[in-house]
Amino acid sequence: MQNNLINVVILAAGKGTRMCSDIPKVLHTLAGKPIISYVIDIAKYINEKKIYIVYGFKGNLLKRQLNEPLINWVLQNEQLGTANAVAQVLPYLKDNEYILVLYGDVPLISKDTLENLCNIKIKNGIGLLTAISDNPNGYGRIVRKNEVITEIIEHEDANFHQLNIKEINTGIMIANVGDMKYWFKKIDNNNTKKEYYLTDIIKIAYQKHCFTKSICPVELYEITGINNKLQLVHLERSYQLKQVQKLIIDGITIRDPNRFDLRGTLKCGVDVEIDINVIIEGNVVLGNRVKIGAGCIIKDSYIGDDCHIYPYSIIKNSKLSIRCNIGPFSHLRMKANLKRDVCIGNFVEIKDVSLGSSSKTKHLSYLGNSEIGSNVNIGAGTITCNYDGTNKLKTIIGNNVFVGSDSQLIAPVTIAENATIAAGTTVLKDVKDADLVLNIKKQIHKKHWKRPLKK
Ligand code: UD1
Ligand code: MG
Repeated sequence: MQNNLINVVILAAGKGTRMCSDIPKVLHTLAGKPIISYVIDIAKYINEKKIYIVYGFKGNLLKRQLNEPLINWVLQNEQLGTANAVAQVLPYLKDNEYILVLYGDVPLISKDTLENLCNIKIKNGIGLLTAISDNPNGYGRIVRKNEVITEIIEHEDANFHQLNIKEINTGIMIANVGDMKYWFKKIDNNNTKKEYYLTDIIKIAYQKHCFTKSICPVELYEITGINNKLQLVHLERSYQLKQVQKLIIDGITIRDPNRFDLRGTLKCGVDVEIDINVIIEGNVVLGNRVKIGAGCIIKDSYIGDDCHIYPYSIIKNSKLSIRCNIGPFSHLRMKANLKRDVCIGNFVEIKDVSLGSSSKTKHLSYLGNSEIGSNVNIGAGTITCNYDGTNKLKTIIGNNVFVGSDSQLIAPVTIAENATIAAGTTVLKDVKDADLVLNIKKQIHKKHWKRPLKK
């Protein structure tokens, strides 16, 4: 949208006492992302050059973690109320411009709703987002006289009659900066909480014949604020359900919408199937006909057509070409680069490894810092010993190598093409093309051996 005249002010100085946490409220995550990041994203959509965040509690942590260089950070030393928070920003803003107030703890406000609100920006008046709620508890109530909004009464200050009002203040509003500065002079803290309420400007403006025009959000859930962890998990579930419904409508088979979490973005080809309790994090791409078994976690990875990920596998920062079979219980810890038809089986851990086409490592192995060619068979229990206590060292294995079970490959080491490593071998030196390597271990037989008896 990018409207140069609009300054977006995000209020985030509150401690969030009701979260019962050492972490600032707005850094708690919704679908894997800090709740304030949703608000920042939408603020960027409105005007990426004029975003102000009012911060207070653990502000440095907030700044460091969000790492948003374009944002103007404004400190509110003491949390004296929402008007006091906005007052910290007003000196930086030009009178002929507008101020859009967003809340750091109301993450799901939509572009459409804010566009509608920004369209009613008026001089000598206020644009306010209100909503009708069956459960208005805790919210400011919108008081109207002959349809006209005359004031907002905070829950704590409302009388019995006002508590029955179902129209609530979402807190989100837009007004002219000059007007705002003028109205602000009249705000006091004569109320139950002894705070300077931003909401008081509605009455002050009304008394000066400046009116408030309200609109409703496109969907009610957008205005949900998070004040405690129960509200956070409820919002998480409804947000997840919304995401999953969209994915299913787009053609992905997700066996149980209530047992799937997307914490990032997911792009899918056709006929993808996802079983229960799968978590997708970061940016994930699944090709055509990919099947993901129960309990898998996939993060920041690309998985090619016809791959089959069996249950309880974890794949992170990896790239899989077509027709790979992974799991059950595989761990592609990071930087696995698998060519077509690769098989990784149960209890195999992979880290920083490339495997050529049709190579297999099917049971109980650790492969780290390795380049492995195509048609290689890695027997059960093979370990690349890639760490000398200080450095990570490389193992290189050529095409068509056969590594027998329970072998240790002491890096740095290179095993050339077509070599064979017998079972139980500790490979200490490089192996030449087509060699067989075995450690001579003598097998001794003692006839009619009696095991010791218990004394
Ligand atoms: C506020 C509104 C209420 C509205 C509700 C919607 C006021 C007085 N009340 O109440 O009408 O229905 O939001 O969710 O505005 N903050 C600061 N500095 C402060 C105080 C608050 O930055 O000194 C920030 C908080 O971090 C939070 C936001 O302002 O992001 C709202 O504060 P909160 O205490 O949650 O206000 P509510 O009681 O929810
Ligand atoms: Mg709140």
